[in-house]
Amino acid sequence: MDKITEELERKRKKAIEGGGEKRLAAQHAKGKLSARERIHVLADKDSFEEYDMFVEHRSKDFGMDKNIIPGDGVVTGHCKINGRSVFVFSQDFTVYGGSLSETHAEKICKILDQAIKLGCPIIGLNDSGGARIQEGVASLGGYAEVFQRNVLASGVIPQISVIMGPCAGGAVYSPAITDFIFMVKDSSYMFVTGPDVVKTVTHEDVSAEELGGSNSHTKKSGVVDLSFENDVLALEETRRLLDFLPLSNKDKPPIKKIIDPVSRKSGNLDTLIPDNSNIPYDMKELVLSIIDEEDFFEIQTDYAKNIIVGFGRIGGETIGIVANQPMVLAGCLDIDSSRKAARFIRFCDCFNIPIITFVDVPGFLPGTSQEHNGIIAHGAKLLYAYAEATVPKVTVITRKAYGGAYDVMASKHLRGDVNYAWPTAEIAVMGSKGAVEIIYRGSSEKEIIKKSKEYQKKFSNPFIAASRGYLDDLIRPNNTRYRIYRSLDLLKTKKLSNPAKKHGNIPL
Ligand code: HXC
Repeated sequence: MDKITEELERKRKKAIEGGGEKRLAAQHAKGKLSARERIHVLADKDSFEEYDMFVEHRSKDFGMDKNIIPGDGVVTGHCKINGRSVFVFSQDFTVYGGSLSETHAEKICKILDQAIKLGCPIIGLNDSGGARIQEGVASLGGYAEVFQRNVLASGVIPQISVIMGPCAGGAVYSPAITDFIFMVKDSSYMFVTGPDVVKTVTHEDVSAEELGGSNSHTKKSGVVDLSFENDVLALEETRRLLDFLPLSNKDKPPIKKIIDPVSRKSGNLDTLIPDNSNIPYDMKELVLSIIDEEDFFEIQTDYAKNIIVGFGRIGGETIGIVANQPMVLAGCLDIDSSRKAARFIRFCDCFNIPIITFVDVPGFLPGTSQEHNGIIAHGAKLLYAYAEATVPKVTVITRKAYGGAYDVMASKHLRGDVNYAWPTAEIAVMGSKGAVEIIYRGSSEKEIIKKSKEYQKKFSNPFIAASRGYLDDLIRPNNTRYRIYRSLDLLKTKKLSNPAKKHGNIPL
């Protein structure tokens, strides 16, 4: 018995040592935490329970049979985050560069299967040189097993990926399927093909950072939701995000105790809209004013800034917020903002999170670039996402709601449950000048100005929409928080489902 205990301790020690002191020092020298240190930051104190510490790879080629490190380059298990159970895997770069072997993949698959079965979120801490080169196709098979489970888990449990080192080749596709991707600045990158292959194929000279660093992915590609200065911040924000989310699609998000009264008035909102409707204002002021304690978890802060999406709470309960931002592109909808908001709305709908929409949108962004790159299909994604969503939907039109964008932004016609407008709302087919120039084509400039004023007076207000019942009420800006709270309270019993189908065919 003593012998077995000794052997167990020896293996346990070896697993914890991972690739050894030298490699750990190299990891630290890059400003990176080790796989276990990361879990320590992520998990509630002493809550992590490790699985499969003694799993060993089965590879015999290239002398691999003489080089076995228990655990095989990934630490897996479950832990608590603010008291709720979550599964986690953390790749250990000190063991074969965190590369994914057949057994490494099996460990990840095991916790994915459990997470789906038990209805717990999964968080992946990625730091890997990709497929274990010594294993070849066994490793590729392992990746596909992980992808398959990521897809099955999608919409069932929240999946979060944190990229904390290399993530290259097909390996990027597991994070890509997950709901949220975070990156650590300067020490992580993601690309399908690295700089050397790019150079060979396209003759472009590009650094790893420029090709797939956090800057590129949070600002240009939009693949990554947020980036953070270091490992600790990325992990702390992962914990914070999780607090807004339910454990699964069968669960409700946790209710937070708050001291911010739901009837709190926001006097600042009465003067938020400038007198001149062409002057922008910061929609974030409205978002922060209506949520509890200004605690807003914004997603994709640096991408498609003409739309704001993120999580907040009212009365302690999670809401998803989608809001046009007049400060950027006048709040127009374009390809990137449509995709960004559509994906966020679908996440909320999967996970029972009510959607609050603030509308100030002059329309879809015109131009050949938008048309040729498919604004029709991409804009339709947003329309589709709103139309299929069955969670409570509350909409507030603050100013412009023009044209197709009026329809798209959670209008009554797309099953908006409660649709409000501020008195400053302008709901029309298009802006007055554009409309009059079409109706009175060929008229003098003076005549156009006169007619434009008439058109504006007639249509640039909320009354026509309200008279048709497209708006449920016109509300005072300072009372917006309370009105949304009351609507959400009412909508708690909402039951709505779409016609039975295998799945819809969103215009991807
Ligand atoms: C086995 C690997 C490995 C891999 C790294 N290592 N990648 N071992 N398989 N894929 C090992 C190294 O041999 C080294 O071992 C240790 O990890 C650290 O690697 P270094 O190169 O010293 O580190 P660094 O300079 O930081 O460079 C990291 C790296 C580089 C950029 C990730 O290692 C690299 O380019 N690796 C190969 C990446 C790759 O081509 N992977 C396959 C992609 S194809 P020692 O013993 O010296 O510490 C793929 C297909 C997936 O992933 C498809 C899924 C569908």
